[in-house]
Amino acid sequence: MEKLTYTHNEAAAKVLASFYDTPPLAYVRSYGCQQNVNDGEKIKGVLQDVGFGLCDNVEHADLILFNTCAVREHAEQRVFGNVGALKKLKEQNPRLIIGVCGCMAQQAHIVEKLRQSYPYVDLVFGVDGIDRLPAMLAERISRGKRYLEKPEERNAVVEEMPIRRDSGFRAWLPIMYGCDNFCTYCIVPYVRGRERSREPAAILAEFKELIAQGYKEITLLGQNVNSYGKGLAEKVDFSDLLNLLCTVPGDYQIRFMTSHPKDASRKLIDTIAAQEHLCKHIHLPVQSGSDRLLKEMNRHYTVAQYMDLVDYAREKIPGVTFSSDIIVGFPGETEEDFEATLDLIRKVGYMQLFTFIYSKRTGTPAAKMDDPTTHAEKAARMDRLLKTQDEFAFAATAAMAGQTVRVLVEAAGRTPGTVNGRLDNNLVVEFQAPECLIGQWAQVHLTGSRAALLVGELVRE
Ligand code: 5AD
Ligand code: SF4
Repeated sequence: MEKLTYTHNEAAAKVLASFYDTPPLAYVRSYGCQQNVNDGEKIKGVLQDVGFGLCDNVEHADLILFNTCAVREHAEQRVFGNVGALKKLKEQNPRLIIGVCGCMAQQAHIVEKLRQSYPYVDLVFGVDGIDRLPAMLAERISRGKRYLEKPEERNAVVEEMPIRRDSGFRAWLPIMYGCDNFCTYCIVPYVRGRERSREPAAILAEFKELIAQGYKEITLLGQNVNSYGKGLAEKVDFSDLLNLLCTVPGDYQIRFMTSHPKDASRKLIDTIAAQEHLCKHIHLPVQSGSDRLLKEMNRHYTVAQYMDLVDYAREKIPGVTFSSDIIVGFPGETEEDFEATLDLIRKVGYMQLFTFIYSKRTGTPAAKMDDPTTHAEKAARMDRLLKTQDEFAFAATAAMAGQTVRVLVEAAGRTPGTVNGRLDNNLVVEFQAPECLIGQWAQVHLTGSRAALLVGELVRE
């Protein structure tokens, strides 16, 4: 694996400065997972490093960049729709640069489609191109020709990338890139390449900097954080990394995602139990409650093994809560398989579920499997699943009334005069408080709930 350090590209900055009369503005939009959002923050940092300002209106932009997601077809269609809508802007302003990057651009058939059917797209590059973005822009400008990169795997980790974070109190911190698991439905291992862990020292340095800057919640990111450390010279696993980060003094909390059940160890659960800084909430995507389908999905665990883990966590971590990802309508899913999933979600009692109807991804093994179930049937199953989940989650949320909890206030609430705070267990409470509390800790007395939203009152200390 190549280890690289970002360096400012002065030559590219000069090309850009001479092309634009006034400092140019960039509009960057990221789709999909937190990893991609974090990539978007780096894209903004890199653009600022070579003289761009940022804007949130495409009509003011000199550069429009869509940082895309490929995990489901719907996400891809949205991007094509949004790119299509820019044609007019480009006709009005031929100097406008339009770019598509990220996971979609990592697939050859998508790059080909952009090349042929979207001639006004100037710039296409994959997930590993962010540090080279200034050079690509300079190339596009100097040559006056489209710059479309062929998808390639780079197998590198680039450190010290400039970053413009979206929040001043909640930060994403990638600890590894790529995925080696090849779940049969998933495109991620093909677009994000092989697993690469960052050095503990680099992660610790970034973490310390975030805490020094006043960040209160850090979410560690990786497609499978539980395989952190594989391939590093230093013998270190994910629990070791968590323990290392928790030595940093300060008033902060740590979350992480995603934790693959096949690699979630008892050591990890013991670590969560022992460390105060770690949220007592585990996102543990199960995908299905049918052993037959778990095997077809190449998940490498059974429902019984998954339940063992959940039971162990319940025993060791008082009050622990779980969330999960579920795929409905995987090829060949029978009514029996689906009911096994319903059983599992009743048994675990998840605080939150992220549910997806299976989406066929070209190039994955599942795309070749027989899929006789109609979309209407799958949608009906999804409705049943959501109903089952809501019954549990709404009741569990309501049952929290009476507790006083500490929350991180993260945004204005829907009801005027209120703010939303996030609990350790990832639920959100709405309460009356001034917006100046956003980004701060608050004590809230929970008084009730509306569906999955808690309501409460600020406790004045
Ligand atoms: N179809 C539907 N859902 C998918 N996911 C990943 N690939 C697919 C697909 N092809 C879901 C999984 C994963 C989450 C991030 O997205 O549930 O955990
Ligand atoms: Fe996809 Fe499975 Fe890797 Fe997650 S662990 S990114 S679902 S292949």
